[in-house]
Amino acid sequence: MKRTTYAGLVDEQYVGQTVQLAGWVQKRRNFGDLVFVDLRDREGLLQLTFSADYPEALDLAQKMRNEYVIQIEGQVVARQASQVNDQIHSGKVEVVVTSAKILAESKTPVFDIADDVNASEELKLEYRYLDLRRPQMQKNLRVRSKIMAVATKFMDEHDFLNIETPYLAKSTPEGARDYLVPSRIYPGSFYALPQSPQLFKQLLMGAGYDRYFQIARCFRDEDLRGDRQPEFTQLDMETSFLSAAEIQDLVNHWIQAIMKEVVGYDLDPEQIDRLTWQEAMDRFGTDKPDLRIPYELKDLSGWAQDSAFGVFAKAVEAGGVVKALVVPGAADHYSRKDIDKLGQYIERFGAKGLAWLKVTAEGLNGPIAKFFDDAATAELLAATAAQPGDLLLFGAGRADIVAASLDALRRQTAQDLDLIDQERPWRFAWIVDWPLFEYSEDFDRWIAAHHPFTMPNEEDLHYLDEGEDPHQAHAQSYDLVLNGYELGSGSIRIHRTDIQEKMLRALGFSHEQAEAAFGFLLKGMEFGFPPMGGIALGLDRLAMLLAGQENIREVIAFPKNSKATEPMTEAPGPVAASQLAELGIQVQAEEQ
Ligand code: AMO
Ligand code: AMP
Repeated sequence: MKRTTYAGLVDEQYVGQTVQLAGWVQKRRNFGDLVFVDLRDREGLLQLTFSADYPEALDLAQKMRNEYVIQIEGQVVARQASQVNDQIHSGKVEVVVTSAKILAESKTPVFDIADDVNASEELKLEYRYLDLRRPQMQKNLRVRSKIMAVATKFMDEHDFLNIETPYLAKSTPEGARDYLVPSRIYPGSFYALPQSPQLFKQLLMGAGYDRYFQIARCFRDEDLRGDRQPEFTQLDMETSFLSAAEIQDLVNHWIQAIMKEVVGYDLDPEQIDRLTWQEAMDRFGTDKPDLRIPYELKDLSGWAQDSAFGVFAKAVEAGGVVKALVVPGAADHYSRKDIDKLGQYIERFGAKGLAWLKVTAEGLNGPIAKFFDDAATAELLAATAAQPGDLLLFGAGRADIVAASLDALRRQTAQDLDLIDQERPWRFAWIVDWPLFEYSEDFDRWIAAHHPFTMPNEEDLHYLDEGEDPHQAHAQSYDLVLNGYELGSGSIRIHRTDIQEKMLRALGFSHEQAEAAFGFLLKGMEFGFPPMGGIALGLDRLAMLLAGQENIREVIAFPKNSKATEPMTEAPGPVAASQLAELGIQVQAEEQ
């Protein structure tokens, strides 16, 4: 089949030419002896005209319906000025069809192929091949493809080797549950799909490859969210003999290339912020702050400790904190009822309430204003620099609850009042100097803040010695954050057996458990592993942000829904009894 170009690319330059095109019928308008068809292909739309001058083609046009696949030949002509459509690339021209062919018919689509279509997520995923015909989805997958192309080219130009690591692997702990694959040959034994290529890339450095890169699929059986899928893709890299600063510099230039070539944005690596983890927590209440939001958390614990307002004084007395957000110009935006709703919203973080004050030219306003005399008011206004018209939102209590609550309120209020600074639309930041360990409420014990292979700061190594408190140690790890999302995470790795063994001991592994889980790594390190470090960026998150989307499903061709199933193929599904028998697996009947 001959095709001149894509329908969506035909424009003024083609006027007078004969073209052969193929694609889908987006829309048909039938006036009897004149039929207009909007032809769609992956580049966009083009108007076709079928007239009585070419009766055979006109006859076929009468039979065409939405989503039929057609092929045509015709002449490109300029549209009359009054008919020009500025919304599409081909809007100044149309094609007078001289011959046509229907290549495939289509049932009436279950929803319109349009970005503003009002169909449920479930239906769209069930008919994903129709959903993927939408212009926005086509754009999204192109952004994703372009990121991969630019990322790979950059890595190649910087002497990284693209090396694949196994998917049928051994369970490596990255904090989530594994997806397991049963072994037919060894009944009762299982492969684990990798949560990341972490250990393999360290082994590749041990093997002397110096610079590794991979677009790696990762699998994690964890609760889903808008920015989390059970299988996702990392732009994964590892280097030998580089410092953390050198690795970050390399990543800055990598990101710079991606931003330039994918969205045409000139990112100045000098402008990428650097915050310590502590600073991020203090100022924003989160380790992934959105720096486009122009207000921060203010610590008012000192001011609050002898406050006449009992909630505040008691919070400080109990070892907690009192912090506030000054939301500029928000006093008139929120009613009491709205603020009550904000208070309910933060209950999920454990917040016991949401105290608030409106600032007016006369002073403070609101139900708790009465607790603050002139001196307390003056001190508050000085500490917060709050202006008339501003709204003060307070969190009082345990530091982590206050942090999580005010972080959520900061993002919510910025969205409600449209306070996100658009001047610098892409706010990347490095978050550095993380604690080596964090306390996990889920597991009720200390876990590695990044993963167990992260190198402690040089001066903190002694904290891993017996008799010392390992939880004091900070790590040579770094996260890359973009607009409030954790885009990537990396670190310098432990490359010596003695340090790795101490680290595993601090995590509560016995010698035997460590050997069983990571014996191969510990053994490898005895054969001369170089100092190494790397990072993995979440490709799906990057593509989501660059495509202007709010859910990573929008940049994954065939994603799982929020229940981790795939409505089109109906995965996961049952398998034949014979398959299970072969694997030596018996499935327990689910308890009703
Ligand atoms: P980490 O677990 O932080 O680090 O993952 C790196 C990046 O991958 C993305 N990501 C996800 N994206 C979508 N869905 C998920 N479920 C998901 N989980 C993670 C995030 C995250 O920042 N081996 C280390 C990296 C290293 O140390 O080099 C690792 O996997 O953008
Ligand atoms: P109460 O004295 O409990 O009626 O609370 C008075 C105000 O303080 C209400 O607006 C509560 O929502 C708010 N409040 C109560 N506990 C907290 C807290 N831990 N942090 C912030 N505000 C609170």
